[in-house]
Amino acid sequence: MYQTLLTSLENQIFTITINRPDKLNAINKAVMTELGIVMDEVYNNAGIKSAIITGAGPKSFVAGADISEFRGLSVEEGTALAKAGLDVFFKIENSPKPVVAAVNGFALGGGCELALACHFRIAAENAKFGQPEVNLGLIPGYGGTQRLVQLIGKGRAIELLISGSMIDANTALQYGLVNYVVPAEELLNKAKSILSVVNSKAPLAIAKCIEAANAVYDETKNGYEVEMNGFGKCFGTEDMKEGTAAFLEKRKAGFSGK
Ligand code: COA
Repeated sequence: MYQTLLTSLENQIFTITINRPDKLNAINKAVMTELGIVMDEVYNNAGIKSAIITGAGPKSFVAGADISEFRGLSVEEGTALAKAGLDVFFKIENSPKPVVAAVNGFALGGGCELALACHFRIAAENAKFGQPEVNLGLIPGYGGTQRLVQLIGKGRAIELLISGSMIDANTALQYGLVNYVVPAEELLNKAKSILSVVNSKAPLAIAKCIEAANAVYDETKNGYEVEMNGFGKCFGTEDMKEGTAAFLEKRKAGFSGK
């Protein structure tokens, strides 16, 4: 169904693998278009509760936007390229279902930005992160200047942005860029074991948590108000009735997502 992605669904966890290993999974137009389409699948397929994004092969998550597509672009075309990528990455960030980046090697430029757009990140020991755009006379275009500052703080982010330097997985862990560093062969299992716990919780409550957390960084919203309204709406769900009843009856809750 996809030309540049591999997908698999197991235990309601949808694994999306960017599959251009000979180009270190660089994001060309086809990959970006298909990432947008696959996110529609994540949103709309009731059989999917959460997703993992990773890269094919042992070497790279995503080594950036495909530089070969940059040549000859005008100012307007460069701006449009950034807009198209930003829209897809917002779709990931605003997904009501959790999306985790399993970073299996280079996460550079657009690859680092893709990982940043996910709800959290797990790194293999060989992962490397960086925003090397300044080496190309460019700046990040898929949200890197914003999300890196949000996640690791301005000083560390600006150093990475203006030096183009890479950091290794343990430095990323120390910076709070990733939640865990694991051996490469355990990467997907680590992501799946976290998501199998997440998938047992109330889906609408999970969606509200993501929405409220994202509101922290949205100037058009008051995050406390988003939280308050989300909390209130939960009282109208069957899952809230089931969760509280199960607690009081000392049994395990079975959530329907309604
Ligand atoms: N865009 C297009 N092609 C890319 C790419 C990118 N961002 N990153 C890697 N590739 C391609 C290489 O051109 C090469 O293709 P080829 O075999 O047809 O020549 C292939 O992927 C393998 O990469 P190579 O550079 O040979 O691997 P390496 O192990 O020597 O170096 C990197 C790995 C990641 C350090 C290096 O590929 C690199 O610097 N990539 C660009 C990173 C970047 O600037 N990203 C931000 C883009 S905005």
